[in-house]
Amino acid sequence: MLRRLHADQPDTFAFTPDNMAWAEGQITKYPEGRQASAIIPLLWRAQEQEGWLSKPAIETVADMLGLSYIRALEVATFYFMFQLQPVGKIAHIQVCGTTSCMICGAEDLVAVCKEKIAPGAHELSADGNFSWEEVECLGSCSNAPMAQIGKDYYEDLTADRMGEIIDELAAGKVPVPGPQNGRYAAEPLKGLTSLKEYDSGKTQYNASAQLAVDIGDTVKRIDGTEVPLTTPWQTRASKMSPPKNAEKKADRMRGASSDKSAEVQGSEAVAKGKPATGSVTGDKPELLSEARNGAPDDLKKISGVGPKLEKVLNDIGVYHFDQIASWTPDEVTWADQNLVGFKGRVSRDNWVAQAVKLAAES
Ligand code: FES
Repeated sequence: MLRRLHADQPDTFAFTPDNMAWAEGQITKYPEGRQASAIIPLLWRAQEQEGWLSKPAIETVADMLGLSYIRALEVATFYFMFQLQPVGKIAHIQVCGTTSCMICGAEDLVAVCKEKIAPGAHELSADGNFSWEEVECLGSCSNAPMAQIGKDYYEDLTADRMGEIIDELAAGKVPVPGPQNGRYAAEPLKGLTSLKEYDSGKTQYNASAQLAVDIGDTVKRIDGTEVPLTTPWQTRASKMSPPKNAEKKADRMRGASSDKSAEVQGSEAVAKGKPATGSVTGDKPELLSEARNGAPDDLKKISGVGPKLEKVLNDIGVYHFDQIASWTPDEVTWADQNLVGFKGRVSRDNWVAQAVKLAAES
């Protein structure tokens, strides 16, 4: 199956303020220079907010993480969990079609979706409220056949029940997830045959269905207000670091998250040879307006530096091995932050040690 961006794209994308705060918190989870690791959670939250991933959404996330657009597109198009086309406004139904579910009637569920929603997978229903697709095993094989609707699993389905669920959703209700045939969880249909002593004091529904009922976000678009924002690792970091480091770390966190647009602007400015402003962190090393004697070193000799990265370095005023060899840790931090499209490379590839060696050889 080809996974491409949809032909019709919105002009813009923006996280809601609460989702943006959440996304900024996620970015701070990762070590300095590794912020790109936040790409999957951020893409996922963008999808939770909008229902699908548009091109502007993917590019917004890429900008937040200092990634080139193609890198973010690669991730979005690789994972089937990312919807690259609009989905139903009320619900997108994912019917498991793998062996257990297929044997137990998944094809009948698909037939209901085709009849009630649209003939083809990923097509919107006439009113735009529903869409469906067939997916691989969702790990609920003992409750086959099943489908994921929004965030929750509807299990032990029949074609009739599938049709009723779609009708209930269309009427504005959210049917209780979990087994639809009277089972509590995945026990035998006639009840427990062992460990019966644990069959007491139960909640009304099994744990995951109960949670779904309690939280109530089964088919809801997520705007970030659903649960409190917690970033306990930031508290831990500030407790563990000495005051100076804590302050710098907080600055870095702010730089990586609180004002990402300012950071991107700052990085782009540096790449264009302009002074950086705003949330750039670390100490700016001494930069040159041009190579000494018009003879730059071949920075591509540094492992991990190619022609493009060499140009980025030259653009910001780095031409010689001895410049890099003299960078302090704070200057490495600055450089890690300011190599547009190559954030974190200086420390990741230990440029300073490489440059010391190359400078001695040249
Ligand atoms: S085969 Fe359908 S959930 Fe595993």
